[in-house]
Amino acid sequence: PNAAVEDASYILVIGGLGYIGSHTVLELLKEGYNVVIVDDLSNSFSTVFDRINFLAAEHCQATGQRLPSLKLHCMDYQSPSLRSLLWRYRTRPTANPSDSRRSMIHGVIHFAAFKSVSESIDRPLDYYQNNVGGFIDLLSTLKEFGINGFVFSSSATVYGSMANRGIPLREEDCVHHTETYTDASGAERRTENGVRGLTSPYGRTKWMCEAILADLAASDPSWSIAALRYFNPVGCHASGLLGEDSRQTPTNLFPIITRVLTGAKPTLDVFGTDWATSDGTAVRDFIHVVDLARGHVSALAAVAAGKLASPFRAFNLGTGQGHTVQEVVNSMQQAAERTIPVRHEGRRAGDVGSCVADVQRATSELEWQAQKSLRDCAESTWNYVSR
Ligand code: WQD
Repeated sequence: PNAAVEDASYILVIGGLGYIGSHTVLELLKEGYNVVIVDDLSNSFSTVFDRINFLAAEHCQATGQRLPSLKLHCMDYQSPSLRSLLWRYRTRPTANPSDSRRSMIHGVIHFAAFKSVSESIDRPLDYYQNNVGGFIDLLSTLKEFGINGFVFSSSATVYGSMANRGIPLREEDCVHHTETYTDASGAERRTENGVRGLTSPYGRTKWMCEAILADLAASDPSWSIAALRYFNPVGCHASGLLGEDSRQTPTNLFPIITRVLTGAKPTLDVFGTDWATSDGTAVRDFIHVVDLARGHVSALAAVAAGKLASPFRAFNLGTGQGHTVQEVVNSMQQAAERTIPVRHEGRRAGDVGSCVADVQRATSELEWQAQKSLRDCAESTWNYVSR
């Protein structure tokens, strides 16, 4: 349990019932944080709330830890109700003049965004409105309430076509202001802002939000903002109670494979067998969602303590290890003890051949590293869907 967490302090998790949000809320509770969830259930289910409560209570009973407080407010984070909610968490003025906090909310983790690449191409305005427009209003509201600790769900998609170089991506490969850094040979280099080859409106929303956060932090260094660039989040909680349950038809590899394994889809189309990789199929950095959730807790701790290296700091959350699509198929076949019928197709539009994280920055600055293997990802996914 985190002794630094005060009884009257809360973490606001927006989109806390979704796939990554739910796993993160559970890890926060396990670390002793009190959590307030805001979720509009647009792509999640209220039963997830009961399951998080159950798993947190089970953990606290086993460890003898205090059970932190968990609250759910079903609302759109863009509705006026958010301000009324934040009003309720305002602190009374204290006698201590050095206490400048005006809210009991000491950090916000923002998961609520649309995330389908293909849908973003068909409905760009909805994506810009929710992911960028609503996001700007959210930041203005937080500023008004004196809340300046923020963890943002970003994506490896911000690297665009940089991924195609086939070497692990470093945070410096996508920056929003000029930065100096030391390259592998020890030489001092300057990197200019901007990124090439963003392949979808979805990807552009993530890049834009990061740029907005970087500008905000530059204008007022009292902000403490971490942008977490997720690689490919997969896997489920070992209990089989939390997992990926989208309301939409999936387009990502793992959920499609589970549909094939359960008979909901006859074959898996493998997009691209001519990439410059060990078996010709594309390489991704698949990160277990529980590792990813722990990464959020580490980032939040650094954000809330004001310990980031700069007021805006981006971090790759990946394993640093790539696996091919064929290797994923093999490990899912092993976990399920079933055969996955495969059809080889051409490359999918907008895909890159390889996308793997350099994880040095998160390792040294957040003291966080992924621990789970591709096998853990496959087994926990099958355990979740076959229950
Ligand atoms: C992985 C590999 C596919 C489906 C996307 C977004 C990214 C992030 C996560 C989040 C690719 C191949 C897939 C299938 C296949 N967004 N594949 N057959 O494209 O790395 O990342 O999702 O919210 O921003 O771009 O992930 O799982 O879709 O694909 O062969 O039926 O699997 O071509 O090579 P991707 P993915």
